[in-house]
Amino acid sequence: MRLLVTAGPTRERLDPVRFLSNRSSGRMGYALAAAAVEAGWEVILVSGPVSLMPPLGLFRFESVESASQMAETVKSLAPQCDAVIMAAAVADYRPARVSVQKIKKHPGDLVLQLERTEDILAALGAAKPAGQILIGFAAETEELLTHAREKLLRKNLDWICANTVESGFDTPTNAVTLLGREGQVISLATAPKPELAREILKILFPRY
Ligand code: CTP
Repeated sequence: MRLLVTAGPTRERLDPVRFLSNRSSGRMGYALAAAAVEAGWEVILVSGPVSLMPPLGLFRFESVESASQMAETVKSLAPQCDAVIMAAAVADYRPARVSVQKIKKHPGDLVLQLERTEDILAALGAAKPAGQILIGFAAETEELLTHAREKLLRKNLDWICANTVESGFDTPTNAVTLLGREGQVISLATAPKPELAREILKILFPRY
């Protein structure tokens, strides 16, 4: 069993000293990778910038910075994997222009133009090999299950792990509801992320 997991935020550069990013700590993705290593699986972890040590025993570790680097790495490795879990908080927008020189301040406001990044998970869903299991995350501040179900269908996923931003973002514990494409709805109570990761893998992969 070969599993690819993504984790952490991405950073989208503005200039040599500044970037746009988010509060993702990477802990959920790292915990899922560690739980899969415990089961003896071949685990590839693709990580944005985080302050965590990669779990021991990984098959492969790839460190990336931006959404486009994550897209390139994941799209090249995913076709050889039995399952992919996109736990990374990938930026949806990046600065339309990256300044080579540090941006100097001027009187008045600065308006930044942002452009969309590629939706990696949607691309994987559109090109999913037969038999591959594709899992996404949804972190929402409102209408959790409605938004999560919409992402499950739109991105052609097998499962989506829905959590509120409050319970799961940059925290040591999480509570998730797993939505399956066959209509399954399974809620897991608040637990430390390493424990929750094992519970999630047990449900998504009955042979775990
Ligand atoms: N994702 C991705 N590529 C992106 C953005 C997100 O692969 N450019 C993945 C994440 O890893 C996660 C899921 O898609 O598994 C989150 O779905 P998304 O629709 O992007 O949710 P948000 O980023 O929260 O965006 P929004 O709620 O604004 O639609």
